[in-house]
Amino acid sequence: METEPMENMKIAILVGSLRKESYNLKIANALIKLMSGKLIPEIVPIGQLQLYNQDFEDNLPTEWIDFRKKIKEFDALLFITPEYNRSMPAVLKNAIDVGSRPLANNVWNEKPGAIISVTPGRLGAFGANHHLRQTFMAVNIPTMPQPEVYIGGAKNLFDSNNELVDKSIIELLEKFLAAYESWIAKNIVK
Ligand code: FNR
Repeated sequence: METEPMENMKIAILVGSLRKESYNLKIANALIKLMSGKLIPEIVPIGQLQLYNQDFEDNLPTEWIDFRKKIKEFDALLFITPEYNRSMPAVLKNAIDVGSRPLANNVWNEKPGAIISVTPGRLGAFGANHHLRQTFMAVNIPTMPQPEVYIGGAKNLFDSNNELVDKSIIELLEKFLAAYESWIAKNIVK
């Protein structure tokens, strides 16, 4: 497969938690600090989006219009999510549903993506991570298979300034980012 030269790739980061002290948000911020100059990341808010109702397609909420337009500006996607009851939180699924319609304008279509799941629990939010992968088949996000990143024990990874200090997780995220850059280069559709 041909590889595109990589520079100034705009990355939309969607965080599946709205909580102020969210571990997922802390991992998103740590990841942004670890990114090379090739990636330009931006956390895109999703909490403002009305719950998906197909009737609204006839009279679009401004928040939906803005969100759909915003996602189209990005080259690639990065999802960082907790697990709610062994799946992704509703707020994240809602954002994906809002972006996916109308079908001919599915904003996710063909944008390379990757997933990190984070939980204070022990199972690394595997269920959320894999339900997201299943949804990405439907919205056509080519999703990076490896390295899989399931981060458990999230309570113990940060210092009192919310800095990620766990060396093994920092190393894992560095590996993840190297793979993610090459995943984008291989899968980007110009
Ligand atoms: C949870 N939590 C949770 N954790 C997990 O590992 N597996 C799960 O299935 C669930 N289910 C679940 C359901 C609901 C409704 C809530 C509110 C929480 C715990 C969850 O991982 C924890 O609250 C995290 O702190 C959420 O992520 P943020 O907000 O810290 O990013």
